[in-house]
Amino acid sequence: MQTSETPAFGAPARLFHWLTALLLVGQYVIGWLMPHVNHDTRPVGLIGLHLSFGATIVLLVLVRLAWRFSHKPPAESSTLPRFMRLAASATHGLLYALLIALPLMGWANASARGWAVSLFHVIPLPALAATGSALGHTLGDVHKLTAWVLLGLIGLHVAAALFHQFVIRDGTLGRMLPGVRKTR
Ligand code: HEM
Ligand code: HEM
Repeated sequence: MQTSETPAFGAPARLFHWLTALLLVGQYVIGWLMPHVNHDTRPVGLIGLHLSFGATIVLLVLVRLAWRFSHKPPAESSTLPRFMRLAASATHGLLYALLIALPLMGWANASARGWAVSLFHVIPLPALAATGSALGHTLGDVHKLTAWVLLGLIGLHVAAALFHQFVIRDGTLGRMLPGVRKTR
């Protein structure tokens, strides 16, 4: 069996990728475990944690995108068909868009409820909607729905990564996990 390595993303890009993934796992678990939110709910306990975690995610993704735009990614495999490269770019673009839009919608909903959003009660963050805002309330429903859309897209992305590794065997996984080798 012949093995070879593929060019990988730099350490900061890989750190951003895996840290986002880890925080998202935590955020979904908190989102599903936290008490049902109604008009007299207070943002304490797991709900407070959901707000801080979510705000951390959107800030991290903004820094990650700034890094991504200022650092060229490693060259792509030229053997991949054009439609596959386009599908990958579209999925990645949509993942980034949802990683920004989803938390901002939750944040606007929190503001509309009159909840102060902060990073773990240490760094206060501005309100994204006026208290009582009808749009902010609607965005809460869209937030819950979009959380499922993001989850579906992550499922597709992970399935694609595994398909590359075990079926196409082109070493794509090694671009985010350099320890993983391509096998032929
Ligand atoms: C990528 C980040 C985020 C993910 C994956 C996420 C996910 C979720 C999930 C799974 C739920 C529960 C839905 C349900 O009960 O069916 C939820 C609810 C909620 N989230 Fe997030 N969330 C994120 C960011 C945020 C942020 C940043 C805030 C506010 C600062 C926030 C505020 C809320 C609120 C207020 C609810 C309750 C909405 C309602 O019941 O009307 N979320 N979120
Ligand atoms: C859980 C949440 C995850 C999110 C939100 C996510 C998001 C992303 C995004 C946005 C990119 C594009 C990077 C760029 O070009 O700037 C990417 C790349 C990548 N991800 Fe993920 N990812 C997640 C989990 C995973 C997992 C679990 C795997 C492995 C099983 C994985 C494998 C990869 C690989 C191999 C690449 C590089 C693709 C390439 O360069 O063609 N990701 N990810």
